[in-house]
Amino acid sequence: MRGKFISIEGGEGAGKSTVIAAIVQALGQHGLEVVQTREPGGTPAGEAIRTLLLDPARTLAAETELLLMFAARAQLVRELILPALARGAVVVSDRFTDASFAYQGGGRGIEMGRIAELERWAAGIKPDLTFLLDVGVDEGLARARSRGGELDRIERERSDFFERVRATYLSRAAAEPGRFRVIDASQPASAVVAAVTRALSEWRTRA
Ligand SMILES: Nc1ncnc2c1ncn2[C@@H]1O[C@H](COP(=O)(O)OP(=O)(O)O)[C@@H](O)[C@H]1O
Ligand SMILES: [Mg+2]
Repeated sequence: MRGKFISIEGGEGAGKSTVIAAIVQALGQHGLEVVQTREPGGTPAGEAIRTLLLDPARTLAAETELLLMFAARAQLVRELILPALARGAVVVSDRFTDASFAYQGGGRGIEMGRIAELERWAAGIKPDLTFLLDVGVDEGLARARSRGGELDRIERERSDFFERVRATYLSRAAAEPGRFRVIDASQPASAVVAAVTRALSEWRTRA
């Protein structure tokens, strides 16, 4: 499995970080170079943009939020993802463009066609495989809160926002069943990790 791009998506507290740690370890055991990254961020410029995006003290228009997400993503693709794929590495990203469709499209109401246009020229690539960790909004938010620390600007949204995010993720997964694997993330973490690991090894033997 050389030069593959895997993204992990899902709402707040779905277990993305938990799953990524397990996947990176599993892939590393196969002697592959694994490059782990996250959005927004993943590069020095992107992490600076992340700080701006998630600062609860900022007020950002939906369009500003979308463009900053894609500004960080454009940098991430060119500085980190494409060079890693060219070396034959497996790139595992905590979120990618599906998150913009879910949050800025579904959540904020920006027209999906505008996001698709940015996807074409600013991102320019799509993941080969995407895991959607699906969990109820209240359950996810409770987990995110239990992690401790301050909630970021987006985590402070109301639950109807996150319901739209979840519905958009699920409809995207239904529209692209070849790329998506939807995982029931309401299960205990060990079961979620096992389901992801199983789906990943099945995908590897087919890819
Ligand atoms: N399946 C699960 N069941 C219960 N708690 C979980 C599960 N997965 C993760 N957690 C816990 O919930 C919190 C959020 O998980 P995390 O992996 O940080 O989610 P995300 O990165 O998607 O926001 C963490 O404290 C984590 O230990
Ligand atoms: Mg996380």
